[in-house]
Amino acid sequence: MGRACVELALLGLCFAAVAEASSIYFPGQLNHAEHESCRTHLSTDGTCERTCGPSFNIRELSKCGIKDSAFLYCCDPNLVRTTDRVVDISPPFTTFQCGKNSRNSFFFPPFYDPPAGFLRPEADLPPHDVLTAAIPPSHTPGIPEEAIAEYEDFTSPPGIYAAVGGIVAEKNAWPWMALVGKSTTQGPNWFCGGVLINEQWVLSAYHCFIHHFAEVVRLGEHDYNDEYEGASPKDFDVLETVLYPDYKHPQAYHDIALLKLASKVTIEDYIRPVCLPWGRASDSVVTNNIATLTGWGDTEYGGFPSPILQEVNVTVFDVGQCDSSYSSLPHYSVTWPQGIGEETLCAGDPNGGRDACQGDSGGPLVSQDENGSYVLAGIVSRGYGCGHKDYPGLYANMRHPAYLAWIKKTAFTSP
Ligand SMILES: *[C@@H]1O[C@H](CO)[C@@H](O)[C@H](O)[C@H]1NC(C)=O
Ligand SMILES: *[C@@H]1O[C@H](CO)[C@@H](O)[C@H](O)[C@H]1NC(C)=O
Repeated sequence: MGRACVELALLGLCFAAVAEASSIYFPGQLNHAEHESCRTHLSTDGTCERTCGPSFNIRELSKCGIKDSAFLYCCDPNLVRTTDRVVDISPPFTTFQCGKNSRNSFFFPPFYDPPAGFLRPEADLPPHDVLTAAIPPSHTPGIPEEAIAEYEDFTSPPGIYAAVGGIVAEKNAWPWMALVGKSTTQGPNWFCGGVLINEQWVLSAYHCFIHHFAEVVRLGEHDYNDEYEGASPKDFDVLETVLYPDYKHPQAYHDIALLKLASKVTIEDYIRPVCLPWGRASDSVVTNNIATLTGWGDTEYGGFPSPILQEVNVTVFDVGQCDSSYSSLPHYSVTWPQGIGEETLCAGDPNGGRDACQGDSGGPLVSQDENGSYVLAGIVSRGYGCGHKDYPGLYANMRHPAYLAWIKKTAFTSP
């Protein structure tokens, strides 16, 4: 077949393609044969191929030819390294408003009795002595044995274990908070926290599910031991647990998992998803900002979980600070063989005392964007002790593009 004839045939195909994908092709753009040289989408020199490999997003590549009724794409193998970021983290289409709570967008009812500002009830009790505080209780609802085992991997940190420094959360101020548990004959046994990210998915920590099955998620809760405290919690069965594929025990990286609820949540004032830092928000810097951690976890190292949701403000530190302090621990080379890097968020209290603790795992660390919406910054992962000045808490960093891309692919593709 002569060249002109090929072009005529292509013309027909081009019109079909234009109508279908509303793309515009320049004259001659699709004339390349397989392996012929061409210009890539980033104007570098490439060759025209059936596929450029898995690290490229096919929608961004330039089409350069047609073979066997399929498009060929212009590939440049030298671009592979720079396109590690070519993952789809653009904001997905959603119909709900995320990240708003009763503090920043809703009217406060007149006879509202705000519990915020009260100390934890435990704060009035005499302090545990160090010895009892250091031994995790053998049977405490809310603490997975797995988590205890992991914490025992580290020799107990020196010093007195202060309470983790939170206050009782304002009721319903954190409408994305989730409790994750398993069903027992006495009702659910909550073993981790989680965070609602859309109508049907809750994000949590991978390590929560190594020895436990997530069976039930509760949304809209405040005090799980008190049915009459004014919250209207709803329980959802868990349909599916999706673990992040690159987590490799005993390494601590990539501690995230997604739970699919058996039915869609009705979004209301007290049950509402948090925002994720999609697109350009993933480049915003949160270092040195204050972020808020919420959870039903232990109020001190080796202590007991709180049935009432607690909130704690922490400072986000440069991740290098965590890398250098944790590098002095004996298990560092096994737990973080590549060091603690940008996939991890490091946050705590410059003076010690405010931190996440056991049972907070899987729960959210949030910060506010310029419009006051709460955006997920991290997922509680681990730490050495709780509230230790020299060992800030470690979180899965939600600005890590690979995490956002995985969440989008798993939880934001309909139906
Ligand atoms: C946390 O910080 C925010 C904003 O800086 C503030 O409005 C809030 O009251 C603080 N909460 C606590 C528990 O300190
Ligand atoms: C804040 O709101 C403005 C106006 O609605 C909008 O253009 C902007 O994108 C918002 N910023 C963020 C970070 O969402």
